[in-house]
Amino acid sequence: MYYSDEVVEEVRAGNDIVDVIGSYIRLQKKGANYMGLCPFHGEKTPSFSVSGSRQMYHCFGCGTGGNVFTFLMEYENFTFPEAVKQLADRAGIKLPEEEYTPEARKRADRRMRLLDINKEAAKFYYVRLKNDAGKAAYNYFKRRGLSDETITRFGLGYSDKSGGLYQYLKAKGYEDEILKDSGLFTFDEKKGVYDKFWNRAMFPIMDGNSRVIGFGGRVMGEGEPKYLNSPETMIFDKSRNLYALNYARQSRESYFLLCEGYMDVISLHQAGFANAVASLGTAFTGLQANLIARYVKEVYITYDSDGAGQKAALRAIPILRAAGLAAKVVDMKPYKDPDEFIKALGPEEYKKRLQTARNSFYFEIDLLKQEYDFSDPEQKTRFFRETAKKLLQFSDELERRTYTEAVAKEYQISFTMLNRLVEQYGSAEMPGEVQKETEYRERKRKKPEEGYYTSQKLLLTWLTTEPALFQKVKGLVTAEDFTDGFYYEAAKEVFEQYEKEGKVTPARILNRYETKEEQTKAAELFQTTLLGDLGETQKAKAFAETVRKVRQNSIEMRMGRAAETGDIEAMQKAVTEQASLDRALAKAGL
Ligand code: GTP
Ligand code: MN
Repeated sequence: MYYSDEVVEEVRAGNDIVDVIGSYIRLQKKGANYMGLCPFHGEKTPSFSVSGSRQMYHCFGCGTGGNVFTFLMEYENFTFPEAVKQLADRAGIKLPEEEYTPEARKRADRRMRLLDINKEAAKFYYVRLKNDAGKAAYNYFKRRGLSDETITRFGLGYSDKSGGLYQYLKAKGYEDEILKDSGLFTFDEKKGVYDKFWNRAMFPIMDGNSRVIGFGGRVMGEGEPKYLNSPETMIFDKSRNLYALNYARQSRESYFLLCEGYMDVISLHQAGFANAVASLGTAFTGLQANLIARYVKEVYITYDSDGAGQKAALRAIPILRAAGLAAKVVDMKPYKDPDEFIKALGPEEYKKRLQTARNSFYFEIDLLKQEYDFSDPEQKTRFFRETAKKLLQFSDELERRTYTEAVAKEYQISFTMLNRLVEQYGSAEMPGEVQKETEYRERKRKKPEEGYYTSQKLLLTWLTTEPALFQKVKGLVTAEDFTDGFYYEAAKEVFEQYEKEGKVTPARILNRYETKEEQTKAAELFQTTLLGDLGETQKAKAFAETVRKVRQNSIEMRMGRAAETGDIEAMQKAVTEQASLDRALAKAGL
């Protein structure tokens, strides 16, 4: 959903940041601001500051900062639209309805109805579990060590031998036509309609917002299939959801535990590891990895300890990496899976396993090693070759070197030899060569300008914190001088606000950015500490220097572009500006 700037601003202005943050953490007035314990890093003395006048927050301990939207995005793990929605509700602002085509409206209605059906079914199974008929299932969960609290938290249930869900939903007015699409029933021409789940312990599967979208049903004891899962439906896409994500996303850990089974997840949560999730009876997918990457940067794979589990871990590792997630692999031996491990040894021992979890790269090399017989020199060499190839996946030179050193040490090969192999492969393979070349070009392109980006950032910080300085550069600097796309956005907003209102509303600038990263980066612009503690003369000098750099870079960029495109007029303009730069600066008193 895309909200217009006006709507976003209305919502932001309608929610006082001190009130909003004050409803999450205790704030105390200190001078012009409010202080509290930072919710984003552990601390005992308050360094988290909220400013009512700026409508922003900043933590002097961990450096995070932003406006009401970023706060909810960080605290609740909301996306930007989710934060807007929540704050709109809070302020009683009605958001514009999405424009639906009749077709889309029909689909949305259908999805709602399917969600309702699944919710009703979960309630139905849950009630059955607590009835006499559900005694066996209840005992089954108990035997597996689940507390009543856990059963309720995960909404576990029981599907009766005598069925009954179909009749129940019919009585509630749902037609066959929609019940068919729910995946909860079998429609047979001869035998009629019957419940798909029958005499099974039921695990409702919820999406990230705790809405039931499907079920897993387990036989109580032995039997085939062990788990029966809802088929994919309009609301149940197994590749895009994760079991227990609704809880894991609220845990304050910086990593997730990735499991294979529902029971593993539930056991871990019960043992205090609320950051455990699992894929839904299918292989782990890239979409699931992206979903995880919205909340954390690291994943501990805690799969079954058998061969199948190891293979599955090997498959998950590159998928996690591709989503930018670091991965570690937890060893559950001699137990089968986290559920059995926890039951046997308890949470403390599990924590120790997390501490000794193997970095995913070493895990891969360990398994690779098992395929070769080291007593045979030829096989040993082949292993080293394969390892060298794998080392090439680290495109960062320093990282590659660190790993090469570590692997050499671990497997007792000479570093020089392994490194030579890596280099050989690196230059022998065309794709590697091409990649190195692009990297080199990127570096060349980026490096010299980094200084300019810093000055663009500094200049924005001056301008937003001291209106007097804005008056000084009016006419000399424009938003177009900010050649970095990110700062250009901020500059446009700053200049517009000054022109129209004669002042800047910092929190509003953040509205221009949608991701948490961008907003945090934009929030940094308002940290006057960036400017250091300068005396008046020093400050004037530093400011003049910054303005010059920004202008100089802007002129050079335009010259470069004009030269490339052969735009004579633009070239002449840039040359004139260059020639008069000193004079213009002096005229502005800089
Ligand atoms: P428990 O025996 O209940 O502890 O199961 P587990 O969690 O140890 O499950 P297992 O490692 O056998 O399987 C992991 C996951 O794969 C389960 O949570 C299910 O999602 C899925 N799964 C297991 N068995 C079947 C099956 O027979 N059919 C289907 N479709 N999925 C299954
Ligand atoms: Mn198990």
